[in-house]
Amino acid sequence: MVQLEPGPSLAQALFELNAGRAIGLPTETVYGLAADGTRPTAVAEIFRIKGRPPAHPLILHLAEASWLDQYCINVPPLAWHLAESLWPGPLTLVLERSSKVPDCVTGGLSTVAVRVPSHPVALSVLRAFARPLAAPSANRFGAVSPTTAQHVVDDLGEDVAVVLDGGACECGVESTIVEVREGQAKILRPGGITRETLEAMGVEVASGDLRASPRVPGSLESHYCPRARVQVVQDEDLEGAAHRAKGHGLKVGIVTQRSLRQSTDAEILQLGTSPEDLARGVYAAFRELDRRECAVIFLSLPTSDGLGAAVADRIRRAATRVNDGSD
Ligand code: TXA
Ligand code: MG
Repeated sequence: MVQLEPGPSLAQALFELNAGRAIGLPTETVYGLAADGTRPTAVAEIFRIKGRPPAHPLILHLAEASWLDQYCINVPPLAWHLAESLWPGPLTLVLERSSKVPDCVTGGLSTVAVRVPSHPVALSVLRAFARPLAAPSANRFGAVSPTTAQHVVDDLGEDVAVVLDGGACECGVESTIVEVREGQAKILRPGGITRETLEAMGVEVASGDLRASPRVPGSLESHYCPRARVQVVQDEDLEGAAHRAKGHGLKVGIVTQRSLRQSTDAEILQLGTSPEDLARGVYAAFRELDRRECAVIFLSLPTSDGLGAAVADRIRRAATRVNDGSD
């Protein structure tokens, strides 16, 4: 049975987690599909529901940085510094794992990805549960990440009994994944904590080659895809591209941050003016344009500084369809 709670029901969530089942959990980035990260049968539920290949590792969510001592080993000083400065928040650290972390969480890797989310509902659940929660984004594998409880119910409602409703996600794109090695922070996936924030802390930042890291599913080229074909165009060509596609009989969606000509023949979603507005709204916009049955979505890339790096990354991946052979 699908239950969308009018408000968070902590007791119900804990009951499900203790029974080894997965719940929909709000975080500040996107909604997670969370289960007991110390219990292989509970973790297996996540893979089953999500349809995710089992070798793909999950993020362990912790209630506070002090838990690192239990679930990670040889934590370098830079990782402690990042954790203490930026947690709770949208930063995931890849660290050496301890024997308390089951193989199924890490896909057999010797490292584990960990983060402390800042959403108050996620933190209450973690504190009360007192064990780490493994949680990928609460969408089916390869699809658009959910940023509201309703999105989770729409995607996984048949398989998840409890979805805690913590409102729309404040950040809207996933956490930044950072591998800390030899005093350097390597960004494996851009996200809610920007490169500039890390650099302002005096941290030496390197960019990882996401494509060289097949274990990071966000790095598979076609990820975060809506049903509609996503096409990146120059901002000034949005109206022209819409007009041409319409001429081919396609229903067109546009995601933009500027006012387009009234005559533009498309479903237009205008997402505020700031990079934060764009990050918060882009996944929901993809979903909405799918709901309106658009065949193609046009949008332009934001500049890739600040939060724009994460948004541009997700748009590029949504625009890349490797395996479906349709274009
Ligand atoms: O914001 C987020 O990070 C959200 C919320 C729910 O916390 N979670 C999320 O999880 O985006 P997911 O499973 O969709 O993405 C986790 C990413 C994957 O790309 C995975 O491969 C990578 O983390 N990852 C996990 N463990 C890793 C490891 N040991 N080394 C490198 N990458 C790892
Ligand atoms: Mg995901």
